[in-house]
Amino acid sequence: KESLKGKHLLTLMDLTTDEVMDILDLAIDLKEKQKKGESHHILKGKTLGMIFEKSSTRTRVSFEVGMYQLGGHALFLSRDDIQIGRGETVEDTAKVLSRYVDGIMIRAYSHESVEELAANSSVPVINGLTDDYHPCQALADLMTLYEEKGTLSGKKLAYVGDGNNVAHSLILACAKTGVNCSVATPKGYEPKAVIVEKAKEIAKETGATIEVTHHAQEAVANADAVYTDVWTSMGWEEEEAVRLEAFQPYQVNSELLSHADQEAIFLHCLPAKRGEEVTAEVIDGPQSFVFEEAENRLHVQKAIMVALMQE
Ligand code: CP
Ligand code: NVA
Repeated sequence: KESLKGKHLLTLMDLTTDEVMDILDLAIDLKEKQKKGESHHILKGKTLGMIFEKSSTRTRVSFEVGMYQLGGHALFLSRDDIQIGRGETVEDTAKVLSRYVDGIMIRAYSHESVEELAANSSVPVINGLTDDYHPCQALADLMTLYEEKGTLSGKKLAYVGDGNNVAHSLILACAKTGVNCSVATPKGYEPKAVIVEKAKEIAKETGATIEVTHHAQEAVANADAVYTDVWTSMGWEEEEAVRLEAFQPYQVNSELLSHADQEAIFLHCLPAKRGEEVTAEVIDGPQSFVFEEAENRLHVQKAIMVALMQE
């Protein structure tokens, strides 16, 4: 197997199916170690620079805590506090940070700027969300599905809502691991066609089916997991009122969930807006695994950092 050491993780297209499964297995192993209180200082003495252009609770805290648990150290670098906010180029920032830290995690608006950072960085760059992708989230989502269902290949995940960054990474994650994926969005809010095409290509090798529709109920039919995300992502706030109306028929409520498999789990990357994309009854109900999912961000990202940054 080709090692991931020294590589970047910008989208799930950067990983093979085996590499995805290896990361999930490692994440489960690290989770066990952490629960047992077993020390696992695999990245002792290593440092991670974390650049944030957008807000974050889970990504920031889980990367920082994860690095500490691995024996390393993480630095929080807000865009407004480093010189990038005053116009220093991404290229120079990448070259300078590469001389100090062993890995860089970045949350940014433009995916291209993260590609530019990676192209100029001599240390691994991890995408902590861009306008187009959220690969760490999708890996934590797969981990949660894997833990709850015991397997991935052949399961069905339905994503209902905005064809956004989270949807894009989920579609690719499902394609890579043989999970059948049905996405339902309002007209005009579909996932990007190039990403769906790419996923369909990948799915040919794993046997997954990838389907994009405008019918929420159809997408959810017999699903093992039902997933949604906010209707207005960070950076799209001006469209909020229009979106609120367009997405109304796509709310995940008890009625919609009743069309899924009886044992289906509900997932959401969080933060959530109760009463908009999901009702309180569903997200706070017995089928919801959103906090397990949020916890798994920690374990899966530790596995990613180990895979990319280990000596
Ligand atoms: N799900 C997620 O990425 O959450 P944060 O925005 O809080 O990091
Ligand atoms: N789609 C959301 C995810 C937040 C974790 C956003 O980009 O704001």
